[in-house]
Order: sequence, then C-alpha cells, then structure tokens
Amino acid sequence: MKKIAIFASGTGSNFEAIVQAVQDDVLHANIALLVCDKPNAPVIEKAKRAGIPAFVASPKEYPSKADYESHVNEQLQSLGVELIVLAGYMRLIGPTLLSVYPNKIINIHPSLLPAFPGKDAIGQAMEAGVKVTGVTIHYVDEGMDTGPIIEQKAITIDQGDTLADVEAKIHALEHELYPEVIERLITDK
Ligand code: GRF
Repeated sequence: MKKIAIFASGTGSNFEAIVQAVQDDVLHANIALLVCDKPNAPVIEKAKRAGIPAFVASPKEYPSKADYESHVNEQLQSLGVELIVLAGYMRLIGPTLLSVYPNKIINIHPSLLPAFPGKDAIGQAMEAGVKVTGVTIHYVDEGMDTGPIIEQKAITIDQGDTLADVEAKIHALEHELYPEVIERLITDK
C-alpha cells in the first residue's frame, strides 16, 4: 500500500475525511504521518485519536525554511512516504521538498483556480458576487495555488446563501473529492 503524509495547519476536517476513507476501505493508502507546523492545531488531536503518528514542529524554530524542510524530509524518508497531501497547510512548499517530491505533492483549494488564490478564497468569491465557485485539487509548485490542475468541481452560490452556507457546501465537496482523487493518483487510474 502506498504511503502518504498529510500536511495540515488547522482544523483538519479534510484530514479526517481522508482517514475515514481509509477506514471505509475506499482509499487504499497507508497514512504514515501527519506533518503539522502549528503546535496547537486541532488536527493533532484528530491524528492522535486515529492512531496516526504526528510530526509537529514550528518552522520559526529552525534557522531557515530549508533546515525545517530537511528535517521534515528526514521523517518522510525514514517512513518511505511517496505522496504528500496538503490539507489546509498554510505555508508554501520550498525547493528542498519540491526537489525530493517532484509532482508528488498535491493541494486542495476552496475555489475554481486560477480564480481566488491565496487566503480566504470563499470570502473572496462571495465578495466578488460570483454565482459559481468550487474546489480545485492541483499539483504543488513553488507558487501560491499555481500548479497544474488535477481536478475541479463546482458548487453554486444561491440567492440568500451566507458565508457559512457556502463554506458548508465547499467542505462537503472537498471531503468527497479529495479521497477520490488520492485513490486515483495512487492506483495510477
Ligand atoms: C480547506 O478549505 C482547504 O481547501 C484549504 O484549507 C481548508 C482546510 O480545512 N486549503 P480543514 O483544516 O481540512 O478543515
């Protein structure tokens, strides 16, 4: 079974959905490690409950981003991780990890890229008044939400929808789509 690492910085609802898909036997992956850059993030507790090892380290405690990523990479190599799945990891990946995992790092973003990259993509879409937004899964490069697109799906923003309504639609879609796409990638379908 392919070994994957999930990188997350916050709540971890996508982390949970991926764990659930493995438990339900619809995603055939071994989640070898959670990498978390925020020592108080709720996702850490979720990993503990699921019995998934976590590597938690604050990048600011390292002399440079390259040092931080080298340390992360040591953990990934010791476990034989083949695919990195970013799920709400609020940090750009640098050349240290990108060179070890070319086209093996993927991200999920809550908009139809290239529209609304960066932070608060759902708020940006509401602000712009668009009627359709969605979710993008893409390969990661050195840019912010710029790598080649693997999959996109849309949702509608309906009359009277609040930010919370749109967030709920986006998250439901993310939780369904991300495990599906990971399964497709690791089984080379
Ligand atoms: C998701 O909306 C994802 O698209 C974005 O960050 C959010 C993470 O949410 N990159 P969660 O931590 O998985 O709940």
